[in-house]
Amino acid sequence: MPLQPLTLITICCFSFAFSVDVRSRVDCSPDPHSLNEQKCKSRGCVWEFPQVDAPKETPPCYFPSTTGYVKTKDLGNGVLVLEKQNGPLNPFGADISPLKLKTHYIGSTFELSIGNDDRYIPPLNLPKEQPNDNSDPLDFQETSGTNGTFTFQMIRRSTGRIIWDTSIGGLLFADQYIQIATLLPSTNIFGFGEHVHKTLKHDMTRYTTWPMFATGFPPDSGSQLSTHPLYGVHPFYLCIEPDGKTHGVLLLNSNAQEVTLGPAPHLVYRTIGGQLDFVFFAGPTPEAAIQGYLSYIGKPFLPAYWALGYQLSRWGYQGVDEMKTVIRRNQAAGIPLDVAVADIDYMSTYEDFTEGEKWSTFPEYAQELHSQNVNLILIFDPAIEVDYDTFQRAINQNVSFVEWPRFDQVPTKIQDQYPLAKNTKMMLGNVWPERNVAFPDFLDPTNKTELWWIDEFRRFHDMLPYDGIWIDMNEPENFQTGTLKGNNSNGKTLQCIVDGIDGKFDNPPYETKAVYDGFDPFLASKTLCLNGLSIRGTNNLYNTKSLYGWSESRATAKAHQSAIKKRGAVISRSTFVSSGRYTGHWLGDNVARWEDLRTSVIGVIEFNFFGIPYVGSDICGFTGVTWEELCLRWHQMGAFHSFSRDHNMHYMPAQDPAVWPSVTKAAKIALTFRYRYLPYLYSLHYRASTIGSTVVRPLFFEFSSDSETFSIDRQFLWGKALMIAPALDPGIDSVHAYFPDDLWYSLQDETYGKIIPPGYNDVPAKNDTLTPVFARGGYILPRQTPSTTTKESRNNPFELLVTVGQNSISEGELYYDDGVTQFDSIDQNPHFSFNFTYSYSRTAASLNARWSTSISNYTLPTLDIIDIVGYDYTPDFNSFYLNGKRININIQTSSYSPFTRRLFISTKNLIDMNAESTTLAWSHKAV
Ligand code: NOJ
Repeated sequence: MPLQPLTLITICCFSFAFSVDVRSRVDCSPDPHSLNEQKCKSRGCVWEFPQVDAPKETPPCYFPSTTGYVKTKDLGNGVLVLEKQNGPLNPFGADISPLKLKTHYIGSTFELSIGNDDRYIPPLNLPKEQPNDNSDPLDFQETSGTNGTFTFQMIRRSTGRIIWDTSIGGLLFADQYIQIATLLPSTNIFGFGEHVHKTLKHDMTRYTTWPMFATGFPPDSGSQLSTHPLYGVHPFYLCIEPDGKTHGVLLLNSNAQEVTLGPAPHLVYRTIGGQLDFVFFAGPTPEAAIQGYLSYIGKPFLPAYWALGYQLSRWGYQGVDEMKTVIRRNQAAGIPLDVAVADIDYMSTYEDFTEGEKWSTFPEYAQELHSQNVNLILIFDPAIEVDYDTFQRAINQNVSFVEWPRFDQVPTKIQDQYPLAKNTKMMLGNVWPERNVAFPDFLDPTNKTELWWIDEFRRFHDMLPYDGIWIDMNEPENFQTGTLKGNNSNGKTLQCIVDGIDGKFDNPPYETKAVYDGFDPFLASKTLCLNGLSIRGTNNLYNTKSLYGWSESRATAKAHQSAIKKRGAVISRSTFVSSGRYTGHWLGDNVARWEDLRTSVIGVIEFNFFGIPYVGSDICGFTGVTWEELCLRWHQMGAFHSFSRDHNMHYMPAQDPAVWPSVTKAAKIALTFRYRYLPYLYSLHYRASTIGSTVVRPLFFEFSSDSETFSIDRQFLWGKALMIAPALDPGIDSVHAYFPDDLWYSLQDETYGKIIPPGYNDVPAKNDTLTPVFARGGYILPRQTPSTTTKESRNNPFELLVTVGQNSISEGELYYDDGVTQFDSIDQNPHFSFNFTYSYSRTAASLNARWSTSISNYTLPTLDIIDIVGYDYTPDFNSFYLNGKRININIQTSSYSPFTRRLFISTKNLIDMNAESTTLAWSHKAV
C-alpha cells in the first residue's frame, strides 16, 4: 500500500506512527512542560524535530493520526457512539468514553456536538433560527481514518468541496482537556476573537495559537504578533473556499480554550471544559454566512439614533466643571456632538450609583445637556463595594454574588472587616473602590440579582437622568489576584487555591496559551478565582467566567429599558457569542500609536462578523500621549465606525478635537459627512438587527470572487454601497487603495462624482479634506442635511445620493423611526421603510420613493435634494413631473455639469416623504 505522502519512520512507545508532513501536525506538547523527546514519546506521540525551513512554530512532538475514537454504534436520528479504543491516551486526564456525536440541521445550519449528557453547556438561550438562505447546504460524511479511527468530513453538497476533514486525527476528550483537529479547504480564514489581529486574513503559513478567554489584558498592537486573549470570546471563523463560496463555523464553548491555525491548512481546537458544540453556517456568500450565524445566535440590538452621533469621553475629569468646559469648547468649535460620556470620576470613591463631591451639580448639567440635544452616557463597573447602600439592598434582596465553594476556603481576615459580608462565602476582590468588592452573579437563575441591578439603575436614573450605559471591567477584572499555597491570605487581596483537589480549577492540567505565553502566571491572574461559584452557587467560574460580561450585558440592557424607558445604548468591554443582542463594544485600552489605528480597522470588521456592529475604538488612542497628526487621522477614520468616541486615559493631556485647529477642521468635515449619511448608517443597523447583516464589512464580502480583496484590511465598506480608504500612516497625503471591479464614484469635494478605475489607485488623503470615501454605482443612499446634533439633523430635509451603475437601475432603502422608542418587536414599532428606485432611458429618467411599510405616528421632513452622479444626459429642468403633475424645479439651486456628470436637483419641499408612493419623472437628451 503506498504510503505517500506519509512515510513509515519509527516505532513509538505504543503504536506504529507515521511521519506527518511538517505542515499538518497536531501538537502533542502544547504545554511547555514536556518539550523533550522522552516525554513526547511517553505520551505515545511522535518526536521529529522540524528542519530549519519548516513553517514557524512547527511542533516537534505531534499526535499520530491514529489518535482518536472509534465508532461503535449508530443509534439513528443522527446519533453515533464513539469509544476510546486505540491511539495515544489523553495527556491531560482520563479519556472519557463512550461519547456521543449528535448532528442536527436547522435549515442549512448544521449542528454537530461531541460530548455526553453531563457536560457543561453555556446557558445562552439562543434563538437558533434558520437562515434566510438555505440554498447551498453542507453534508456530514463519516469516514474512517488510520486503524479504523473514526473521522468525518463536512462537504458542500453543490460542489463536493470538503470543508472539514478530521482525518488529520487528534480527537481527545478528558474532563479538562478536549481536542479536535481538521483540515481546511483554503488558507482564507478570518475571525476568532478577541485579539489584536495585525491582518484580517490569518497567516496560515505558520502555526499560530490564539487563546480565547475573557481577560482584562489590553490590546498590544505594538508587537509583531500578540496572541494574548482580550476582553471577549468569539470562537467563530469564516472561510472562503477556493471558488469564493464561504462558510462560517462556531465552537460554542465558554471554557478557556484556544485554536491553533496551521499550514496544512488546518486547525486544532483545544478547550479545557464543556464539550464540543460546533455549528456550521453554509453561506454560500460571506454575508449569508454571517446572516446564518446571527439567525442562530441572535441579531444585534438597534441603538438609538443619537447613539450613532459622535461621543466625547475621557477618564480624569477633575469635576463636572472640567467636563462642561471640554464639551463647551467642542460645541463652540462646531464639532457635531451627540454624547457626553462620564468615566468613573463622577462616582464617590468609585462606587457605582453614587456621585462624587465635585459632581454635585451633575444632575443639573445632565438637564442642560438634554436642552442642547446632547445625551449622557455613564460608566458602571460590576463590582460593588461591600459596605454601602447598594450592597445593603443587595443583601436585603438575597442577591447572589460570586462565592467560594466552602466556608473553610473563605479568607475570614478579609470577610470579617465587613459586617455585611461577614459569615458569607462571597469571593471578595479589589477594583477601583477603596475597600473590598463583591461581584454580582448575573447568571443567577432566580432573577433576584437582575431585579436588584435593574432597581439600582432605576433609582440612580431618578437622581441623574443618563441616557446610555457603559459597562466596564466585566471579564470580570480584579486587581492583584494571587495564588494561595496553604490557607491564609495577605489580608486584602484575593488569593486562589492552586494545590490539591481544591486547586483543580485554578491549576488545571492544561492551562492554555493564555497562561503559557508568559504574561499571566495562571488563569485567574487579574480576575476572580476559577473555583468561584456562579449560577447561584451551582456552577463554577471555570465554566462561566467568559460569560460574566455577557450576563451583565443582558441584565444591563433590561436595566436600561426599565430606568430610561427609551432606546439608548449599552456598551460592554467583555462580550461573548450573542452579546450583540444586548450591547455594543469598544476595542478597549488601545495606545496612541499608528499600529493601534490600523488594528482598529480590523477589530471593527471582526466584531461585525461576531454580531456586534455597534463597535469602535478609542479615537486618538487611550493610553500614551497622542499627537495632532494621529488624532486627526483617527478622527477621519473613526467617523466611519458605528460607535464613534474619543476617549482618553487619566493623567493624559486633553485630546478632544478642539485642542488643535487642524483636528477641529478634519473632525468637522468627517463628522459632518457622517451626520449627513446617518439615515444610511441607521438603515444598515436596522438591517443588521432584522436580518443579521453586517454594517461595516470588508471588501471581500461584496467581491468574494476577487481574491485580491481577501487581504485588503486597510479599507472597509459601509453596507454594499460606500467604501472608505482612510489614511493610516504618518506623513502621507494620498492612500494607495484597491478598487474592485465596479463603478466607484469619489465623494471627496475636489473630485466629487469622478469615477475611479478598478485596481490600485493613489487617491488624495489630505488632512484638511474628507478622508477618501467612494460610492458604488447602482445604489441610492438616503441622507439628511446635517446639523451639529442628530436631533436637529432629523428635522432637516432628506436627500438622496443616486449613483448610476452598470445598468439603468439604481436602488436603495431607508428605515426611519423616531430613533428612541423602545419596542419588543421591531416590526410593531412605528416606522417608515422606504424603497427607492431610479431608472433612465435615452430620453427620460424617473425616481420612485415608496414605502414598503409605514405605521408611523409622526411626520417626516420633505425630500429636497436628489444628487445623481454618473449622469450622462442633459436634463430638461422644465420637464419635471411629480406623480404625473408638472412641477417647478428651482434652477437657481439645481445644476448639471457634463464635465462632472453630476445632476443636482434641489428644490424646497420637493417630495413629501409621508406620501405612500411618489414618482418624479423628467426628460433628458444625450449630451
Ligand atoms: C478601563 C477601561 O477600559 C477604560 O476605558 C476606562 O477609562 C477605565 N477602565 C476607567 O474606568
